[in-house]
Parts: sequence; C-alpha cells; structure tokens
Amino acid sequence: MPKSPSAVNLTTANNTIAAEIALRRTFAIISHPDAGKTTLTEKLLLYGGAVQLAGSVTARRKGRATTSDWMELEKERGISVSSTVLQFDYAGYRVNLLDTPGHADFSEDTYRVLTAVDAAIMVIDAGKGIEAQTRKLFEVCRRRGVPIFTFMNKLDRPARAPLDLLDELENVLGLHACPMNYPLGDGAEFRGVYDRFARQVHLFERTVGGAYRAPVEVADLSDALVREKLAPDVYEKTREEIEMLEIAGAAFDPEKVLAGELSPVFFGSAANNFGVQLLLDGFLKYSAPPAPRGNAADNGELIEPAAGPFAGFIFKIQANMDPRHRDRIAFLRVCSGRFARDMTAFHSRTGKRVRLSHPAKLFAQERETVDEAFPGDIVGLVGHDSFGIGDTLSDTPAGGIVFDEIPRFAPETFASLRNANTGKYKQFRQGLDQLLQEGVIQVFHLREQVMKVPLLGAVGPLQFEVVQYRLQSEYSAESRLEPATWSIARWLETDADLAGVALPTGVALADDTDNAPVLLFPTDWSLRYFQERHPALALHATPPRRALALP
Ligand code: G4P
Repeated sequence: MPKSPSAVNLTTANNTIAAEIALRRTFAIISHPDAGKTTLTEKLLLYGGAVQLAGSVTARRKGRATTSDWMELEKERGISVSSTVLQFDYAGYRVNLLDTPGHADFSEDTYRVLTAVDAAIMVIDAGKGIEAQTRKLFEVCRRRGVPIFTFMNKLDRPARAPLDLLDELENVLGLHACPMNYPLGDGAEFRGVYDRFARQVHLFERTVGGAYRAPVEVADLSDALVREKLAPDVYEKTREEIEMLEIAGAAFDPEKVLAGELSPVFFGSAANNFGVQLLLDGFLKYSAPPAPRGNAADNGELIEPAAGPFAGFIFKIQANMDPRHRDRIAFLRVCSGRFARDMTAFHSRTGKRVRLSHPAKLFAQERETVDEAFPGDIVGLVGHDSFGIGDTLSDTPAGGIVFDEIPRFAPETFASLRNANTGKYKQFRQGLDQLLQEGVIQVFHLREQVMKVPLLGAVGPLQFEVVQYRLQSEYSAESRLEPATWSIARWLETDADLAGVALPTGVALADDTDNAPVLLFPTDWSLRYFQERHPALALHATPPRRALALP
C-alpha cells in the first residue's frame, strides 16, 4: 500500500534527524583541578577551528579578556561559576563539549552536567595519578554507564610508570584500561608515543609555549630514529612493556568501551598539544552518538532519539548571565526528535504547554539564536521562570514523556543562612524557595531549633555565595552566612530508628525539605564511631529517593 503524504514526510524528517544524530558527540572532561582540563579544552578547540576563541577559555584565571564572566561574582573571584557549552565541527562530526566547573566552583552543577553527556574524557596528571575529584566525577559517570576515555597528561614532566597508572585505573576505579598508545619516556626524556594499533611512532618535539600543532613524525618502533632518540635502557624497557601488553594486556573491545567497562587510554601533553589529536580521533571513532533514554512516565521505556517526538530535560539553570537583562537561562539537553525555535512543548512541572522562544547557543557572553537543534545538542532557553532542574520538555500530550535523569547528591558542606533584614523576610523566603526549586542548594532544618533557621547544604562552598548573591540581586534580600561544622549527612529511614539512641555531642538531627530525617556529623571519625556503637542502625549516604552515593 502506498504511504500517505504525511507518512512520507514523517519518514523524511526522521531520516534527517537520524543523519544529524549520527554526527553528534556530546561529552564532558572530568578531572581533578590542575590536571589540565582547561588546557585540553583549549587544544581541542584548536582542532575544531575555534582557535581565536581557544585562548579565552584559560584566560579567566589570568584576568585577561574573559569570556565566561557571566556573573559579577565570577569577576570578583576570577573563576567560572557556570558551565560553558562549546560546540565545534571536526572531521565531519558536530562536537558538543560541556564544561564541568572544577576548582572552587565545584558544585552539584558539576555532577549534573554529567547527566547531560554521552561520554567523558578523564584527564589524569600522569605525575600524580587518580585524585579525589576525578574519583567522584568518575563515579557519577559510571552510574550512568557512560563511556570513559582517559588522557594521561603532562608526560613532558616526570610521570609515574605507565603500567602503574594503568593498574591504578583497574585497582582504584575498577575500570579496565586499554592503552591505545604508549609513552616513550617521560619528563625531559619524553620522546613521543607509540600507537599500538597503527604500529606507528609519533615523535614529540618541544615547541615554544606549545601554542601550535606540535610537529609529528611517524616511524616504526624499531626505526633507528626512535632508538637514537631514546636512551638505550628506556628504549629496551618500553619495548618490553609494549610487548607484554600485546600478550597480557586487556584486549580492545569497542563494545566494552561503549558499555563503560573499558577505557581507551591515551598518553600525551596537553600544554604541548601532543597526543591531543590522537585522543580526539580515537574518541570520535570509538564513542557513540546519543543513545535512547528511559521514560519514567512509561516504566523506563526507551525513547529512540530519531524516532521519538521532541523531548529533552533541563540539567542546569543559570541566572543573571547578562547583568543588563537579569535573566535566567535553562539549559536543555535534547534527547529525541527535532527542536525548533518557537515550538510549543509540554512542561512536566507545571503540566502546561509553553512556547520555547528565545533559544540560544552560548559561548559565554556571546549568544547566538538557535533555530533548530537535535539530540545531543544543548539549548539555552532564556526567561522561563517556571523551569527547574530535572524538568522535561516534550512535544507530547500531557505527561507522555518524563525523564528522571537528575539524582540528588550528598552535600559535603553546611552553613546557616540568616535573614539580615527582618523587614524583608518575605523576599528572603521567596528567594530561598525559588533557589531550592532550581536545585541551587539543599535546605535542612535542625530539630533542636525553635526558630527555624535554614541550614544550607551544598557539594561545594561556592554555592553558598551564589545563594547570597542571587538573594541580594534578584530579591533584594540581604543574608548572613554562618558556617556550620558538619561535613557529612546520613539519612535515616524513619525517626523510629533513633529510639533509645543518644546522639553524641557535635552530631545533630535535622529534616530535609521532604521531611526525611537526617543525621549530621562533623567528621568521618565521628560517623565511624557512631556506626560502631550502633551497628544495627541503617544510615544512608543520600536521600532515600533518587539517591547517588559518591566515594
Ligand atoms: P585544570 O583546568 O584541570 O584545572 O588545569 P589547567 O588546564 O588550568 O592546567 C593546570 C596547570 O597545568 C597549568 O599551569 C597548565 O599550563 C599546566 N599543564 C596543563 N597541561 C600540561 C602539560 O601537558 N604539561 C605541563 N608541563 N603542564 C601542563 P599553570 O602554571 O597553572 O598555568 P600556566 O601559566 O601554565 O597557564
């Protein structure tokens, strides 16, 4: 039977969407501060042809021309509060790179960004190995089964033995590692990498400042040129290790990479732009386009990116990005179908259909209007006050699609927030409620207090400043922050669990905003001590619902 004209149109549209999806790669770089995330981002942009913009990514900490000073707070502190979304085209791919704030601006946003990506590149300082923040971010990626590519950075400096670094991935993270290339020496003796699959050597030549593409020569490992460059003992040792890997190393299996079980490992030096192209090419070859996501409104039934209607979820809200407009941007990750400017969509939180006007693509202060976007893309929606983190927007009848992608994360730092001006109590409350809804902060109330002062809980302390800043600038509500001594929250199942339990000095009982009971501990030691004394008491590292425990 011939297809009806509308069915033909639909098929054509789906094919176009499928073709667009196939080109998309959406990822984030995860690392501990100073491992080289910003430097690598800058070098990746170099390949994407965004050279003139590249410098501006690192410039923020130097006080040169900044492109990410979205908030005054950022300017004052000289750091980036907000996640930047960078989009570039390379080798026929459309690459979306989501920035994960990592220094003092490490916060729940950092984790949430990872719910919006399809892969991650984990940057490790090869002199140091795996560090605390890398572990936490890795854990969030692992929960989602996201493919993880590893870049061992700073080989131009003395590094730990490559086999040790690979062992560490296995032992500390439980991640099988497959070196795609192998370093030839390190520090002053660093001569390049051996590409194990192409069986080629890429020789490293230092360039001043590493500002340009490093010259790359190609030869075989047994080439006299390679032997000459390496000290005889380094050459022999490296050759033996590479041979050993061929025999005993993890076999490369692209499907395991996609399942997040095997990490392809690349060695190099981001600052010298060495090994970056091998990483980028390898990443694009072995990562996958956006995959289906589960629909919580339909028992987790998967929504196919190409075949489904337009749907996406909001993973981040950024307020006051442009002080002249005092507006608010909701970042939407498109998961299925085609997004078009001015389309209407069903909003899961309010149950209303809303017009998605003013969509923007952002490079810090630069905004470019987006006419259409496809799965994998991030769209900034300007000026929709009702949008909150975790909300789904979809072109379906009411409630048809709901993504449940954003978990709650355990706070690691606490502070009481007092209203500094009694005449403005209403504004204070209203502002705090709004920020709570946006997911900027978690709020607790201590049981022992008669006059309830909100106790704020966050993943990183910068979040407190963001709260104070926004209360002041958006609600004219002044506040006073009093640091609290707790650093660990443990949720109880019910109050009844505490029957007959005396709380030690320094440990407090509080309620979260869902009225779930929480115990607050000042130190790891006090938590352990308490647990030892009450082994039968079940303590949860995260709220009972939508929990995500981190190491
Ligand atoms: P981050 O975003 O992960 O925090 O790290 P970032 O890229 O800012 O890098 C942290 C420091 O490490 C920077 O030095 C950077 O230049 C340096 N770095 C990055 N990659 C390499 C590398 O491959 N080799 C070496 N030797 N250093 C590297 P800085 O002193 O803080 O700043 P700068 O003055 O060098 O820019």
